[in-house]
Amino acid sequence: MAIIKNNSPVLFFYNNSKKWLTKISKKESFHTHIGVLKHADAIGKEYGSRLMTNKDKYVYLLEPTMYDYVMKIQHGTQIVYPKDIGYIIARAGIGDGQKILEIGTGSGSLTSFVANVVKPRGHVYTFDVDENFMKIAEKNIKKAGVSKYVTQHNLDLKTAKKMPLEDMDVAFIDLGDPWTVIPQVRQMLKGSGCVFAICPTMNQLEKLTIALVENEFTDIESTEHIIRTIEAREGKTRHSFQGIGHTTYLCFARKAFFGRKSRKDAEKLKLSEIPSGTPSKTTKKTSTKKISPKKTSTKTTKKTTKKSA
Ligand SMILES: C[S@@+](CC[C@H](N)C(=O)[O-])C[C@H]1O[C@@H](n2cnc3c(N)ncnc32)[C@H](O)[C@@H]1O
Repeated sequence: MAIIKNNSPVLFFYNNSKKWLTKISKKESFHTHIGVLKHADAIGKEYGSRLMTNKDKYVYLLEPTMYDYVMKIQHGTQIVYPKDIGYIIARAGIGDGQKILEIGTGSGSLTSFVANVVKPRGHVYTFDVDENFMKIAEKNIKKAGVSKYVTQHNLDLKTAKKMPLEDMDVAFIDLGDPWTVIPQVRQMLKGSGCVFAICPTMNQLEKLTIALVENEFTDIESTEHIIRTIEAREGKTRHSFQGIGHTTYLCFARKAFFGRKSRKDAEKLKLSEIPSGTPSKTTKKTSTKKISPKKTSTKTTKKTTKKSA
């Protein structure tokens, strides 16, 4: 049986829009529009029990989940919401023991959720350039009870000379210009490691996708996740009027080896084997036959497509 003690975390749940996250402190009282809740009265009760106010109303004493922590997080920045985090975790196959790289800690919403999934053997290494946001994130991560599984770094990986990590299982990027750190992310990911970028606009998705292809990532997928809440009541079930509007698009990809470098090296090697002065077949063809600009461009496109397939 899960019994509430002094210092236990509790969600005072009145209804979906009125709920308060707190830590029980025997001398405290909590004042709400439905009356006063005495913390001391919660001690000794089982999670799920009711706690009465002095106005004869009641709240349920719920054990907070990571969802509650993230929804009640102190916002220093925009955050990633559970509706998106759920898909991120499923698509990237995040689980216990994984090493996670995060660029753009922000308020620590994604950090906390993911740390809770990779614990106890995994770890989140998170980077930010803004010390104020880092302090807010530190508090939020502590409140969520996952500080042990998170290391915060104040470092700009865009300009860092040496990458501080390697063999990461998954990388998250939540910056205005995620495409600028794709080469760095590639260096730090293990082969076939996953990357997820949080992109509030479609313009970001476009630039990012170009960078992902240039840097040899495959299985590229952009998605949007929409939740519709249903108000289910006998005889009058319908969609809710409330709900979260647009939050962000998500872009997923996996590190691959397209073999571009080895193909280039092989081509160079072939050319260097040809004795100087002897025109190669290709040289001969292009130098003697006149190719119309249209034809040339088609040929190049085809070749490029074949190379990057
Ligand atoms: C939208 S917030 C991230 C929100 C976070 N994903 C969350 O769920 O709470 C973007 C963060 O990226 C940080 N940032 C901006 N440029 C950066 C850079 N070059 N390296 C690391 N962090 C950077 C900002 O300081 C800000 O905290």
